[in-house]
Order: sequence, then structure tokens, then C-alpha cells
Amino acid sequence: VAQAAVAVLVAIIRSEEKAIFRALDSAGLPFEKVDVRSLIVSGDDGESPFRLILNRSISQTSGRHAVAFFEGKGAHCLNQSRTIDLCGNKALTAMTFAQHAIACPRWRVAFDPESALTAIVDLGFPVVVKPVVGSWGRLIARVDDLNAAESIIEHKKELPGSQNGVFFLQEYIEKPQRDVRVLALDHEPIAAYARYSAHWKTNVKRGATTEKIETTREIRELTGKISRAVGGGFIAIDFLECPRRGLLANEVNHTPEFQGAIEATAIDIAGLLGEYIRQSL
Ligand SMILES: Nc1ncnc2c1ncn2[C@@H]1O[C@H](COP(=O)(O)OP(=O)(O)O)[C@@H](O)[C@H]1O
Ligand SMILES: [Mg+2]
Repeated sequence: VAQAAVAVLVAIIRSEEKAIFRALDSAGLPFEKVDVRSLIVSGDDGESPFRLILNRSISQTSGRHAVAFFEGKGAHCLNQSRTIDLCGNKALTAMTFAQHAIACPRWRVAFDPESALTAIVDLGFPVVVKPVVGSWGRLIARVDDLNAAESIIEHKKELPGSQNGVFFLQEYIEKPQRDVRVLALDHEPIAAYARYSAHWKTNVKRGATTEKIETTREIRELTGKISRAVGGGFIAIDFLECPRRGLLANEVNHTPEFQGAIEATAIDIAGLLGEYIRQSL
């Protein structure tokens, strides 16, 4: 069917996807938009008609499965399924940080409500309770005392979904009113900016404002280390600035939104991504 070497896997088209389409067009790279919602794959399919798949599916689960299929058919996927698995799950990300001696907030993973409470007390208040899979700050709770901990854990216990049986707990970092986000392409930072909010959750989706920051040597080194640990590709790293320990890696996003980055830095993220894709072909 397709003559294009590149496919962009999409569902809902955000401003980021529109920018990517424009960038691929102006780079003269033929590509096909593949909507995961109408995609059907089967064991009868031959080799992948695409050499490179850029996954921009807003659904992590759909994107993960489609990438697994195309990877199995020999396509180069951005990002690889290993990267999606490690970054798409905050507990697995934290374990990866530990394996690679990457400084991050202290954390515990517990598998039972009682042991989750024990782990929270052990970490010391305030503690942040997070779903292992999630984004935009959803269902992330800051817990200041034992009463709050007991109610959050009790409520979480009643939530459906097997992932709510895994408790990911992190120490709360008394960061300035911002966190730091770095977009990277294969171990190199391409944009660094801070996200400011009066609320302790500084997601752009929750109304944080953004401002460009300098890509320091520390940021460059940490980005390289983290990117190598998760398998490279196109990623966004969240850092929290600890007043005592400096930059701590909080999480890594494997299908980054970058509207906030463009507003803060005026860097042509989609253009750089297009260039990277051309070089990867
Ligand atoms: N341990 C923490 N200490 C302080 N602030 C945190 C902590 N964890 C998360 N936050 C704040 O909450 C925001 C959302 O948390 P994050 O782990 O990035 O989840 P999400 O995937 O939902 O973006 C972060 O950008 C940061 O501002
Ligand atoms: Mg985040």
C-alpha cells in the first residue's frame, strides 16, 4: 500500500502532531499518517511497509502494542518498546534510575495497602503517592500526615484496575515553584525550560507557565546518562531541584508533548525531530 518510508502513528492530532507533519513536509520526507484507531494488524501481515515509525499515539497502551507489532516486522520505532515500557511506568523508571545510579527522589514500591502505609511512614512526610501509569499530574497525591495517608491508600484500594494494587511512593521534594523539563534526541538535550506554578504540580496541562533555561553542563551530563539508561530516542525528562541534592530525575516521558517547550524556547522542536528522523532512515 504505502510507498512512504516513514509512518506517524497517531490518534487525536494535537498541535505537536501538526507541527511534526509540517516539519516532515518541509524536509521533503514522504510519510503516512496511520491512525491507531483504524489500524488492524495480523499474523498474516508481511514485512513492515515503513522503515521508521514515529509513535505519537495519545493512548499509551495502543501505541505500545502497535510499536511491538512494527518492531517485530523490522521497523525502527521511535521510541522503542523497551523505552515505552521503562518510561511509561513510574516504578520501572525509578528502578532504572537506581540501576544506573541516577539521582532521584527517594522512593518505595509496595504491593499491599498495609505495606504501602509502612513504606510511607518509612519515607517520612510529606510523601507523594502516584499511579504507576499516568500523566498530566492525574491522581498524584501529596500526603502530609498519617490520616491523609490512610485515606488515600484506602481509596486507592477500591479503585479498579490492576495497576492500583501497586503503590509507588516518593519523598516530596521542597522544590522552588517550578520543575525543569529537558527534551532530548538520542542523549543530547535540544531544549531546556522551567515550568512555574503556584500549585506544587507544575504540569503545563494544569496551567503552569514556562520559561527557557540554560542547558548547563550538569543538565547535558544527566540527560546523556538518563537517555542511555532508557534506550534513547525522543524523550522528555522532568527534574526536580532539591535545595540540598541538586537536580533529581523525576520521570521520563516517551511521547513528549512540546507545545510548552516551543513557547518557552522558540526552538523548532518538530524541525529537529524531522532532521533526526531523516538521519535515522
Ligand atoms: N516527589 C515530588 N516532589 C515534589 N513535586 C513533585 C514530586 N513528584 C511530582 N511532583 C510535581 O508534580 C508534577 C507531576 O508529577 P509527575 O511525576 O511528573 O507525573 P505526571 O506523569 O503526571 O506528569 C511534577 O511536574 C512536579 O511538579
Ligand atoms: Mg511529568
